[in-house]
Amino acid sequence: MDKEKERQSQWWKSAVIYQIYPRSFADSNGDGIGDLRGIISKLDYLENLGIDAVWLSPVCKSPQDDNGYDISDYQDIDPMFGTLEDMEELIREAGKRHIRIIMDLVLNHSSDEHHWFQEARKSRENPYHDYYVWRDGVEGILPNDMRAAFGGPAWEWVPEVRQYYFHQFSVKQPDLNWENPRLRREIYDMINWWTAKGVGGFRLDVIDQIAKEPDKKITNNGPRLHEYLRELSRETFQKADLVTVGEAWGATIELAKLYSNPDNSELSMVFQFEHIGLDQVEGKEKWDLAPLPFLKLKEVFARWQSGLHGKGWNSLFWNNHDLPRIVSRWGNDGEYRVESAKMLAILLHGLQGTPYIYQGEELGMTNVQYEIEEYRDIETLHLYEERLEKGYSREEVMRSIHARSRDNARTPMQWSDGDNAGFTEGEPWIKVNPNYRQINAGRQVGDEDSVFSCYRNLIRFRREYPVFARGDFQMLLPEDESIFAYTREDEDSRLLVVCNFSGRTVHCPLEEPDDSMRLLIGNYREKGPISTLRPYEARMYLNS
Ligand code: GLC
Ligand code: CA
Repeated sequence: MDKEKERQSQWWKSAVIYQIYPRSFADSNGDGIGDLRGIISKLDYLENLGIDAVWLSPVCKSPQDDNGYDISDYQDIDPMFGTLEDMEELIREAGKRHIRIIMDLVLNHSSDEHHWFQEARKSRENPYHDYYVWRDGVEGILPNDMRAAFGGPAWEWVPEVRQYYFHQFSVKQPDLNWENPRLRREIYDMINWWTAKGVGGFRLDVIDQIAKEPDKKITNNGPRLHEYLRELSRETFQKADLVTVGEAWGATIELAKLYSNPDNSELSMVFQFEHIGLDQVEGKEKWDLAPLPFLKLKEVFARWQSGLHGKGWNSLFWNNHDLPRIVSRWGNDGEYRVESAKMLAILLHGLQGTPYIYQGEELGMTNVQYEIEEYRDIETLHLYEERLEKGYSREEVMRSIHARSRDNARTPMQWSDGDNAGFTEGEPWIKVNPNYRQINAGRQVGDEDSVFSCYRNLIRFRREYPVFARGDFQMLLPEDESIFAYTREDEDSRLLVVCNFSGRTVHCPLEEPDDSMRLLIGNYREKGPISTLRPYEARMYLNS
């Protein structure tokens, strides 16, 4: 590919992507569940924010055991979200606003209600049987002791075939068998069918788990993973100008270079989670809380920034539908909510990679502290039962849930201070965060000082200044316990980002930037010397 073509085809290098969790975004028909027509009605809001693409969490047909991550028909839309025509209209209407639609591909497993699985479980001779992962057995004696991510064993007995099937997630999410070439072909055809409908790319759910080898207890990074990915890419993505991002909890920098090789042989980029798990007890579960080791956070970012520079591509994110709200996690969701939300945005958006904004992050939405009855997430509900059985106290379990439940991110989008935050005219499927009267889009969109406006500016800068996509990365003050500061440089310009990650005023030993550096954006209205950084203060300077 010549240089110019390569540059054009890599539009996603200067793009910002917005994630929508459809059931919680906007409800158009009052049934309490967000839907495609709801999203269409909010496209002007997204155009105003300025994002380039929307990643939609799954909207395909699904019994919703795991909120759509259990697909029963990959080529149809779940009636709860609308119809195929609505989806086509969404793609079209978004296109008019220069927004591409990225779909979520769940290829590691399907729903047990998918017709492949319905057939597969009938007999060992059935042509679909081998689409899934089976092991012979005797009822009651499991093939091995592997556990499923949402609790219980990873094996489920099917009397008709006298075999166990393997499931890394819930019983209703049987793992697909990628060793079967016919299955792979069906998947490629399905992807090409969506591409022909005009989608702009794909996010690939738990993609590093597709090459599992349960007999060796291998779940992610199986031996054939990159062979499968290269075939997948060759048969589908490479035929069109798409962005692709794989979810890869097990990615290291070396692996990320393979996934996001600039030769385009696999994916555009991966979500890696090294920065995400830091406030967790080493070797334990996410529910075992620990303080954030700030120096480690800086070290991880620096290593990924330098490691992939020129050799791969980073995705940049604080949030998604599986993670607690960042402002409640590493910012301050009380007194300094606005300052810290902006600081986290400025820090992340100055880095090299493609930033992802999760719905509501641009408003500084926060975690919730509900009663257990008010949670809906399958993982949270399992965890609750499991930990009580293990003897944890109720208070302790609730503390973990309040800090880490996936439902923190799944409460309805806060559009206004009206009923149900303007999300629905009916009864929302999950309770609205009670702080919606203070935190909502209606209050922020026209306000230059809002978190929303900060995001809007950051998105614009990325498009305007190539240094955001191109510049190299240099960490400053790596040993400082409160300040996260770095520069980004290319042939033409230099970007300087300085953030106080603490709720205290701190002394900053950096020299005052000279007159050639102009303050692009900050989060305090009154200017001050760089030597004194106020709580959660962030500044971004540019010389060009
Ligand atoms: C991914 C999704 C998560 C889902 C799981 C199983 O981690 O992000 O929401 O539960 O895969 O599909
Ligand atoms: Ca609805």
